[in-house]
Amino acid sequence: MKKRIDFTETVLRDAHQSLMATRMKYSDFEGALDLIDRAGYSSVECWGGATFDSCIRFLNEDPWERIRNIKASLKNTKTQMLLRGQNLLGYKNYPDDVVEKFIELSIKNGVDIVRIFDALNDLRNLETSIAATKKYGAEAQVALCYTISDVHTVEYYTKLACDVEEMGADSIAIKDMAGILRPYEAYELVRNIRKKTNIPLAIHSHSTTGLGTTTLVKAIEAGVDIVDTAISPFAGGTSHPPTETMHMIVEEKGYYSPLKIDVLEELAQYFQQVKDKYIQDGTLPVKMLTEDPKGLIYQVPGGMLSNLYNQLTALKQIDKFNEVLAEVPRVRKELGYPPLVTPMSQMVGTQSAFNIIMGQRYKMVPNEIKDYLRGNYGKSPVEIDETFRRSIIGDDVVITDRPANHLEPKLDFYRNEASGLARSEEDVLTYALFPEVAKTFLANKYGV
Ligand code: CO
Repeated sequence: MKKRIDFTETVLRDAHQSLMATRMKYSDFEGALDLIDRAGYSSVECWGGATFDSCIRFLNEDPWERIRNIKASLKNTKTQMLLRGQNLLGYKNYPDDVVEKFIELSIKNGVDIVRIFDALNDLRNLETSIAATKKYGAEAQVALCYTISDVHTVEYYTKLACDVEEMGADSIAIKDMAGILRPYEAYELVRNIRKKTNIPLAIHSHSTTGLGTTTLVKAIEAGVDIVDTAISPFAGGTSHPPTETMHMIVEEKGYYSPLKIDVLEELAQYFQQVKDKYIQDGTLPVKMLTEDPKGLIYQVPGGMLSNLYNQLTALKQIDKFNEVLAEVPRVRKELGYPPLVTPMSQMVGTQSAFNIIMGQRYKMVPNEIKDYLRGNYGKSPVEIDETFRRSIIGDDVVITDRPANHLEPKLDFYRNEASGLARSEEDVLTYALFPEVAKTFLANKYGV
């Protein structure tokens, strides 16, 4: 029997999140759902991440309605969402009752696979999400955030993968959000994880620095089971390797690909038109489509580089750009080597900029960093130096157990607060995640 490689199509979530700030409208991809369903994908990533926020903030679409509609059109293909563990789709920790309810409703409205991650790879922040996902009958896929540092070795990730399997995950994904996972490193990583675990292994990489396709090829050689790709018009640049290309490489290798190239061709034609429209109206900046190895050189995600660039430009401090970049690894080390993924990438970037602009390190410290040092985000990959910690937060209490243990149930509070606006439990959750935006959104939706 030929080894089978499964495909997860990202065009409905990460591809447009990476290329055009998650602005793809349902009406623009509705006509492609039947093609996607016939193409042979094992799953399509289509919900979660920034799509929820973007739907209510910019697109005036109900995200719950979106997932119900997608699900109704897909008969053969599983729907997949991305979830930030205890942060759900927001930027702070939610109490367990909110997390469980949100996952229950996500599954009830049509999500088949919940891909769950924590920015710090603190597995305690995933406990409630994994348990809820399994309780309500969906697949719990745990994603390990890949980053480069002295401690993020192949051994580190292999151990993490074993722990994840033991926690009850149904599958594992290596999540290389910055596109900095190099091909031979990917090979070692996959080979070692494959040896030590028995559940399916997926790889999620980006083309940002130009490595994407090659990294996927080496991961396939090393025994990965599932690859994340984007249909060609929405592939490349800050997005993912192209689906059709990866399909052909898999076949060349002599492996079985369930994809149908003629359907992919039709799908590509469909999305070519969507892409042209978004380029013309300025939603998709053409520069996002170009690979840029800078992220590899500085070992920081491309998004973080452009954020820093914009921040410093706005502050008229752009001449300090290189100094700030050099400060990033120092701050990161002091903070115990957090992976540079949301929200840590923004926090490390801002602190680095403050340190340079103020002319004195940690003279100004954002509240998020203080909260992180109090343990509210979870455990840093490496222990933080006590003297350093005290120099920032003094005698403040530091949490060492699971951060959500310190949060009281809050679902009833949100039900109460949203009672004038919400007409369903889904509305209540929309409100719980983004209260201010939800007020406007729900008032519009119900014409009140
Ligand atoms: Co991604």
